[in-house]
Amino acid sequence: MLGQVTVKPDIPLAKLAKLAGVDIPTNCTSGTCGTCMITLIKGHVPLPETLPPGLDEDMVEEQARLGCIGCPMGDVDIDVRPPL
Ligand code: FES
Repeated sequence: MLGQVTVKPDIPLAKLAKLAGVDIPTNCTSGTCGTCMITLIKGHVPLPETLPPGLDEDMVEEQARLGCIGCPMGDVDIDVRPPL
């Protein structure tokens, strides 16, 4: 485990990770570029009704989420891409 933090409502994964001392690389911070892509191992990170340009259905099936816009609902385990 690289870090652990208490989830706060409406705070995206990248910011929560930073609080835990884990750097998820970001670029656009708007869901467009995919730089912040993580893998959801456990838990729930809701997706927007329309997928942002940084995600597609295949990526979602592989449990990809975007750290800059994905706000976890409750406890989640994630892996950064590529794994550190
Ligand atoms: S930083 Fe570009 S999609 Fe998250």
